[in-house]
Amino acid sequence: MSQYVIWLLIFMTFISDIICSESKDDDTFIPTHEWQVVRRFQKGLHVRMNLEAGVTEAKLLNKESEELKNKAVMKIPQKDIISDEPLLDTKGLKETLKRIKGDDILKPDEIRKTNKLRSYEELKKEINSLNLIPKIGAEVLRDLLTQHKEEIKKERHDFDNGVEFVRQNGFQEVIYKNLNMSDNQIKQETLKLFGSLVQNNGKVQIHALETSGVPVLLRILNLEQSVEVKSRAIHAMSCLLRRFPLAQLRFVENGGLSVVMKILENDPMRVQIKLVTLMNDLLMEHKQALQDKHNENHDLLVSQYQLVNLEKLLLEQQWCEYLNKLLYLIAATDPEDHDSIEKCMLAMHTVADKCLSYYSKDILVSLQEKYRLLALSDLDRSDEFSNSDFFTNLYNLCRNILPQKYIRNEL
Ligand SMILES: *[C@@H]1O[C@H](CO)[C@@H](O)[C@H](O)[C@H]1NC(C)=O
Repeated sequence: MSQYVIWLLIFMTFISDIICSESKDDDTFIPTHEWQVVRRFQKGLHVRMNLEAGVTEAKLLNKESEELKNKAVMKIPQKDIISDEPLLDTKGLKETLKRIKGDDILKPDEIRKTNKLRSYEELKKEINSLNLIPKIGAEVLRDLLTQHKEEIKKERHDFDNGVEFVRQNGFQEVIYKNLNMSDNQIKQETLKLFGSLVQNNGKVQIHALETSGVPVLLRILNLEQSVEVKSRAIHAMSCLLRRFPLAQLRFVENGGLSVVMKILENDPMRVQIKLVTLMNDLLMEHKQALQDKHNENHDLLVSQYQLVNLEKLLLEQQWCEYLNKLLYLIAATDPEDHDSIEKCMLAMHTVADKCLSYYSKDILVSLQEKYRLLALSDLDRSDEFSNSDFFTNLYNLCRNILPQKYIRNEL
């Protein structure tokens, strides 16, 4: 069995534990000790993807698979992560913190812009440098660790705030400790810091992943009451997960999807929209990886995103119905909140091929007409305050989601 298949096996075993199938009488699966093709995941089964046949198979869990699973979640001792520098240098840490706080913290809008500005080349380089070759979990982790240590040595004389912070054990000594405090202001500032440290920094992303950054953030998202803290936590999570399929996998393994659905059901619209945007960004990443066929690591990258398979998981959680409901909610709450409408429609557009039958055409048609008129009325204003381009984009977005027969009125 190739290593790739083993890796898939481990992953699918995790997944089968967290996805509970809605049992349907017509395709009841009776597990045995032999592999059998399944159409739905069932709890507690050992599931694998048979790549040659293109089907999913399952059987009863056995001892060997339990061992594989244990290996995959093996923890690396903390002292190995940091180089052989002294573990805690409070003075240096404070200096580093000051530098980071001063100029690295961007507002959410600026961050979105920066994300967009990053070329795919950069992204590719970063992902390549992570050396994400599918292997047994512990092996992957060990490789990343070795590489991380080497990079720290190489860059000993370079000025890199994030790496410096890691070297001084700042994640343990500052971030995770602060996040356990009850003061919301401290938590918010710490999450801002978390975000700006991992953003665009593959090495720090790896370190945050290694030190349980994903479950720490998920715990905050799950238990936190304050909207401000939650928003910051979503931002930090975004910085940690973006362009990092291994972290996305960890997110899914740690029950990220149920935390997401809980927030989407209960939280204020503002928080929901932030989270929808993050989920959509991750889905877009996967799509981009599929399209970028010239990337020398195309197959590898695609297989990494395939392991996460976020789209499938979201669709199983009624993502289509949810997005449709959210669009209604925004339009009913504040029809002039074009920014939120745009974010919701962008998410709808990404999964339109799967979700179209769940979308209400009437609201999309009426938005199409609304933005057509707004674009036209703003067209005359040639001054810098004209929103014509913005409304034209929204108008086109409606048309790109809607099936042909609903599209009317050229601009
Ligand atoms: C924070 O609290 C959690 C849950 O109580 C605990 O598991 C963790 O070790 C704490 N972290 C730190 C750095 O104190």
